Amino acid sequence: MLLKDTGRTVQEIKDLTAKYMIETYKRFDFICERAEGHYLYAENGDRYLDFYGGVAVNNTGNCHPKVVAAIQEQAATLIHTFNYPYTIPQALLSERVCEALGYDKIFYQNSGTESNEAMIKLARKYGIEKYGPNRFHIITGKGSFHGRTFGSLSATGQVGNVLQNNFGPMLEGFTYAEYGNLADYESKITKDTIAIMIEPIQAEGGVVVPTKEFIQGLAALCKKHELLFLCDEIQTGWCRTGELMGYMLYDVKPDIISMAKGIGGGMPIGAICTTKEIAETFSLGTHGTTYGGNVVCCAAAHAQVGVLLDENFAGKAKEVGAYFKEKLNSLPKLKEVRGHGLLVGAELTDPIAVAVKEECIRRKLLTTAIGTNIIRMVPPLTVTKAECDEVVATLTAAINAVS
Ligand SMILES: Cc1ncc(COP(=O)(O)O)c(C=O)c1O
Repeated sequence: MLLKDTGRTVQEIKDLTAKYMIETYKRFDFICERAEGHYLYAENGDRYLDFYGGVAVNNTGNCHPKVVAAIQEQAATLIHTFNYPYTIPQALLSERVCEALGYDKIFYQNSGTESNEAMIKLARKYGIEKYGPNRFHIITGKGSFHGRTFGSLSATGQVGNVLQNNFGPMLEGFTYAEYGNLADYESKITKDTIAIMIEPIQAEGGVVVPTKEFIQGLAALCKKHELLFLCDEIQTGWCRTGELMGYMLYDVKPDIISMAKGIGGGMPIGAICTTKEIAETFSLGTHGTTYGGNVVCCAAAHAQVGVLLDENFAGKAKEVGAYFKEKLNSLPKLKEVRGHGLLVGAELTDPIAVAVKEECIRRKLLTTAIGTNIIRMVPPLTVTKAECDEVVATLTAAINAVS
């Protein structure tokens, strides 16, 4: 929908939004009318360099032609069925994902948080049925972010902050351990623990990158104590980190993984993958969703995954990400650059991240701020080294301007 076809002005669109919407988001101060490749376009033709990727979603770029074609073709043929009939996009996507990742089974959801709900439910049911009624407790990381529905929110190790405050009691059965501290995780394991759940990199938590020894240590703890190893790949999945999945950075194999964001090319789809044995826990009627596995979303994801795999997007992210990280080291007021591939965080010495982000928008560059000090960048995985240079120059100017 274009502004010129509505008879409204830019200000009227902003006013309507403010009047009618429950606004929990701090908006970028422009109307995004369309997007293509690495740019978002306002109605007046202004273009913004996209280094936030719809928050780590647009891994193949905005409106990749193969994804667009898949959506258009599918929408013109069949939009929704519920999961009663067999559908072609589901079957083909399932084959492609399971074969690429080496898992036996997949279950579709609509979002990241719902995928984590499915992963948590599956782990709990598996534990209770295999070991007894109390074996449903899950250890997650302090500083983690797993989503905003109650299971995922309760798994989120940010007790007492704005995400959880005043929403009433969280779900029981979650314990939080210090991310990076293996001994702390081991000390939290009890006879009632069924799983350890991690993000391979804590993304929303500030792009916190663990060591290989830590992640391998967790995998070993899971083996030793007969726990399921759960991995939230919602932000790290689908080539973002320079590997197909974030866990592959550490040479481990989780029992269940959750995914969303980068798989869908911008369409709302999430999923979990697991082994045949664990998957059997979700027997007929025990879990479900109206839209999960929607045919248009699956067709888009099938096109998206095809591009990501066939065109070696993991390799692209690895190479350009390494270059970008090195160049970011020249930023003024820099404390540390962190990340893998094109999941990159620049922590500043001063609490100016929000001001820098706003200044970057004025300079037509889109990033996100985490907390007070961190600029996080999760662009399309097709960005070039020249664009990375441009971002470093803009960030440098923005930091100097607000300091
Ligand atoms: C690691 C992780 N898990 C879960 C979520 C929640 O995903 P969604 O916003 O699609 O519910 C996010 C979103 O940023 C995330 O980064």
